[in-house]
Amino acid sequence: MKKRELSISYLEYKGTDELSEADRHLVEEAKTAAAGAYAPYSHFMVGAAIELDEGTVVRGANVENAAFPSGSCAEKTALSYTVANFSDKKAKAIAIVAFSEGELTDDPVPPCGNCRQMLIEEEQRLGSPIRVILAGKTDVIILDNCQSLMPLSFTRTNLRK
Ligand code: THU
Repeated sequence: MKKRELSISYLEYKGTDELSEADRHLVEEAKTAAAGAYAPYSHFMVGAAIELDEGTVVRGANVENAAFPSGSCAEKTALSYTVANFSDKKAKAIAIVAFSEGELTDDPVPPCGNCRQMLIEEEQRLGSPIRVILAGKTDVIILDNCQSLMPLSFTRTNLRK
């Protein structure tokens, strides 16, 4: 028996002032995206903005449904659009924000497990890291890649015999 340990590292900032201009811009794009949320049930409006290598930004928001499981998260909306329309481009970074009762949340909102799974799939398809920027009002977290969000994840290699 062996005991193994996995660790992840991330950067934590107080607010967006210390971010690079490009990252700050992506956070602003995510805020714009959140305005497009359809969230009549949770009133929790999430926005995701994906920066592609040639500068295009793809925005997505959560889209809820009376049949709750039929809804889509913001990250899923943005990722699906990116893969369907820009499969030849590389996603470099994704910024995620959320508004609760009309206010940007104080703490960064992390992607749900299903969205982490989707982010890791896209990172593996591209073969290069997608940075993750989680921006709250007081704290901002930046991870170098999506894989760090979910260690021991199920991926395409697990489908082999
Ligand atoms: N939501 C997202 O859009 N992304 C996440 O990663 C977490 C949750 C949405 C789903 C639902 O519309 C609302 O937030 C409340 O869970």
